[in-house]
Amino acid sequence: MRCTYIALALALDSTAAYSPDSWTFGYGFHLGPPAHGQITKATYSIATPRVPQGTTVKDPRDEVWTSIWIGVSATQGDASNSLYQPLLNWSPDQKSQGCSAGAEEWCVAASTYTSAGQVAQPYVPVAKDALVDFEIQVQVHQSVRIADTLVSQQTDPLTNPLQYLYSADECYTGSGACGSLPGYSWTNITIVLSEADPLFGQTLSLVGATSSPHGFLTADGGRTWHAEAVGIPVDDFTAKH
Ligand SMILES: *[C@@H]1O[C@H](CO)[C@@H](O)[C@H](O)[C@H]1NC(C)=O
Repeated sequence: MRCTYIALALALDSTAAYSPDSWTFGYGFHLGPPAHGQITKATYSIATPRVPQGTTVKDPRDEVWTSIWIGVSATQGDASNSLYQPLLNWSPDQKSQGCSAGAEEWCVAASTYTSAGQVAQPYVPVAKDALVDFEIQVQVHQSVRIADTLVSQQTDPLTNPLQYLYSADECYTGSGACGSLPGYSWTNITIVLSEADPLFGQTLSLVGATSSPHGFLTADGGRTWHAEAVGIPVDDFTAKH
């Protein structure tokens, strides 16, 4: 999984002369594919973690940033299928990312990684400790709400039926180092399939993450899947590289 993420990152990076380890992928989880049909809707929430600690920057023209996200895609990460991934993003210099948030806040935007690059809405600041609610719906609509107010949305063409939902901590080191991302949880995650698949929950794979109570459960024979929370521990990107 991490290899496919890195391939994706390198594809994104192919026009710039950064070293290959400029992108670091941390903890996350993935689910899919369903036995038949596709994912038609996913909803989830997050109370943003504290911002990363110990981040360094050598050259302000090449800023470090960290993103956390859940996305859905037709594959587990190839450049020809879009990854619909509303992003939470933090940088020591938020303005370098086009966000007006304070140093202790995250930014959020609907965003899609496409074969032609990232197509994203402007970043919106997330007040510290605010609960952020996400919805991704075929054909393919993302929305982000804070306290029931719509703050970001985007609609993209569907490249192929959505087979996977996955999540990662991601840091672009720029000229510096990513430091340590405090732990957090994705909460109230609901995935709706076009056709029931009673075994879909067994496709869950946790990358350094924990799920509660017991992974994803279904109450309707496999059409709708729900997890109360997936917990992501402190992610010390630097220690892994
Ligand atoms: C969980 O998400 C569903 C939508 O998928 C929503 O109706 C419900 O209110 C949410 N529950 C909480 C506790 O936020």
